[in-house]
Amino acid sequence: MSLVPFDDRDGSIWWDGEMLPWRDAKLHVLSHGLHYASAVFEGERAYAGHIFRLREHTDRLIESGRILGFEIPYSAQEIDDASNQVLAASGLSDAYIRPLAWRGAEQLSVSAQQTKIHLMIAVWAWPNLFGADRMKGVRLGMAPWKRPHPETAPTRAKASGLYMIGTMSKHHVEAQGFNDALMLDWRGQVTEATGANIFFVMNGEIHTPIPDCFLDGITRRTVMRLAEKRQIPVIERVIMPDEMKHATEAFLVGTAAEVTPIRQIEALDFTPGHITETLMADYEALVRMTPEQVRGSLT
Ligand SMILES: Cc1ncc(COP(=O)(O)O)c(C=O)c1O
Repeated sequence: MSLVPFDDRDGSIWWDGEMLPWRDAKLHVLSHGLHYASAVFEGERAYAGHIFRLREHTDRLIESGRILGFEIPYSAQEIDDASNQVLAASGLSDAYIRPLAWRGAEQLSVSAQQTKIHLMIAVWAWPNLFGADRMKGVRLGMAPWKRPHPETAPTRAKASGLYMIGTMSKHHVEAQGFNDALMLDWRGQVTEATGANIFFVMNGEIHTPIPDCFLDGITRRTVMRLAEKRQIPVIERVIMPDEMKHATEAFLVGTAAEVTPIRQIEALDFTPGHITETLMADYEALVRMTPEQVRGSLT
């Protein structure tokens, strides 16, 4: 797979209120965020020129920063405006948007009281997390790492440091030929994949783990609402790995993954079926509506 390096692309990046040429958006190596993972981010998608559920993402970004003990020095409206500005500058109508807030280089020690909080927003084309494998259904292997107890890590925040667990897990299963890792938590309960939430179809109902130690995704909540509108019961509950064999369908949901069918989890096979296909189609239709129509449709 040929990948254009992220520091060698054309375009503009919004950084602390200015639009910088993409290649000039460089960070000092002694930045606190780089050494101590004092950083939070978002992953958003624009469809047909609108950033889907932008304010929910912006609110979560601000809240993630607060959980890590810092205040992003921009209002939600300013962040929304900056996101739309950088999307417009990209010339893309379907795109991935990545805001990141981090502690700067003013102080480099565990204590970081003197650091300034920075914010950048970049936009690029990124069709789907799983690329061509998505429509066939993806294959998951079990992660060797566990999602931590909420008193061990800031599990409600979309915090950069938490992705260390995801990268190690994903690399482990990719080496075995899987597309992604399914993570358990410290109790052995099913949680999510490394960048998407998980749903199972059992007896015509949708079952999904309770997000008490992992991200309660914006797509997760959106898809739960879409299922309710179709009168498909959605049950949030503890799911143990040995129950997965009772599922007839399984799928992942997330901003980057959208709604992606699962065809295998370790030795278990699943066939993407009616419920997965219905929710994929409903989600595809929803994301292409205007923000007002989205709000109207989800209430
Ligand atoms: C670890 C993790 N879980 C779940 C999700 C899904 O969240 P959302 O639907 O808000 O994108 C993501 C993606 O942001 C993620 O990185």
